[in-house]
Amino acid sequence: MRGRGRFITVEGLEGAGKSTCLAGIEQYLRGRGLDPVMTREPGGTPLGEAIRQLLLGFDHADMNADAETLLVFAARAEHLAKVIRPALEAGRPVVCDRFTDATYAYQGGGRGLGEARIEALESWVQQGLVPDLTVLLDVPIELGLARAGRRSAPDRFEQERLEFFERARAMYRARAQRMPERIVMIDASAPAEEVLAAITSALGRLLDGAG
Ligand code: TMP
Repeated sequence: MRGRGRFITVEGLEGAGKSTCLAGIEQYLRGRGLDPVMTREPGGTPLGEAIRQLLLGFDHADMNADAETLLVFAARAEHLAKVIRPALEAGRPVVCDRFTDATYAYQGGGRGLGEARIEALESWVQQGLVPDLTVLLDVPIELGLARAGRRSAPDRFEQERLEFFERARAMYRARAQRMPERIVMIDASAPAEEVLAAITSALGRLLDGAG
């Protein structure tokens, strides 16, 4: 019998190098004979992508922080129901570009909502489902924003002030320290091959159940 698929998430501030890391994870999993579902948040479904436009665009630039958080979880509920749970139940690994740790970081830390309200939404929407492994790419804020700024015009989050990202990064790091068995924090300012080696070793431990 084939077991439930593994749920892997990738987190980090803008410009941390998530795309390279996601490509490396996909390649590694395919090399192990697996067929991962590659997806992202906010997004991953037609409804989720529509909500992403609302969150990242400027039509509602001054949206209330609670409304923002509820939109994130509305997208997540749809994503879990339509994509993530069915794939995991079919035994496929799911690799998600951001998940609920981003809500803790950006809404809990960045927007200052704190963790308790997010915990309430997390338990309602996820019903105990949490990632098996989270790769947190930790990068100094100025370096990340400079990399992200070279790519495209800033979205609604990218144009936030430095302090917003400082609070978000602090929340990510605090969670990694509190949950070291799930969240592997990697210094993303290291050379790309070192970052990739750290990721594949964490994936190896997850798949082989060692160490
Ligand atoms: P990205 O996935 O293309 O990096 O951008 C998504 C943006 O959405 C990013 O700035 C972080 C933000 N975000 C939140 O604020 N809360 C969330 O829960 C998620 C998943 C993303």
